[in-house]
Amino acid sequence: NQIVAIVPAAGVGKRMQSKVPKQYIEIAGKTVLQHTVEKLAQIAKINKIIVAVSKDDPYISEIKPELPAKVVLTQGGAERADSVLAGLNCLDVNEYPWALVHDAARPCVRADDIRKLIDHVLQNQQGAILAAPVRDTIKLSNAAQKVEKTVDRSALWHALTPQMFATGLLQHALQKHLQDGCMITDEASAMELSGHPVHLIEGAMSNIKITRPEDLEIAEMFISRVL
Ligand code: CTP
Ligand code: MG
Repeated sequence: NQIVAIVPAAGVGKRMQSKVPKQYIEIAGKTVLQHTVEKLAQIAKINKIIVAVSKDDPYISEIKPELPAKVVLTQGGAERADSVLAGLNCLDVNEYPWALVHDAARPCVRADDIRKLIDHVLQNQQGAILAAPVRDTIKLSNAAQKVEKTVDRSALWHALTPQMFATGLLQHALQKHLQDGCMITDEASAMELSGHPVHLIEGAMSNIKITRPEDLEIAEMFISRVL
């Protein structure tokens, strides 16, 4: 079973407000992207890693020689889903029947959680994502930012990455729903719209998506502990 990892890394990191896109910020001596890719490369079942980078990206060439041998680069797109689709489009689906998509901005993912996800998917032959149960009490807001009601959180999960699906089904779902103008914020949402099952595999909450400046310190702490 050949598994390809797709790493969307073509974002500009608006919310991070840094000069360098956040995937190229250095934490503990390496860029965020390097940490992320090295985590994926250590999983034996992942045979190829496609990193979708921004057109005319001046940062990737600097770290390219240091990236693991399994890494191939391609050009990303306007939205995250476009970048993922660009990655999928440079593959032979027969050679890589399973695709595991993981945000460049999530360097703190645990290798054991990735293995747990892969084992579950290969055993069930159905797609699944890493996810974490919601811990906080959740409020539904009205337009005036006043509480409409408290939502029952017992069935609510945070969607994390990696997210792993049959390559052809995912490619088809992303293509279709992007074309239809749907809001596709993760792979699972495209698969759900197409009626495919998505299993939730509990993963560690330390698998944060580096989004705002304060996340860097947290990520550094987790990276230093995990590695
Ligand atoms: N991403 C991508 N292509 C895009 C937009 C995002 O490959 N057109 C990637 C980012 O590089 C990141 C992942 O998707 O690794 C998750 O997206 P997000 O955290 O939203 O990153 P950015 O879009 O860069 O950040 P922001 O939304 O704050 O601008
Ligand atoms: Mg974004």
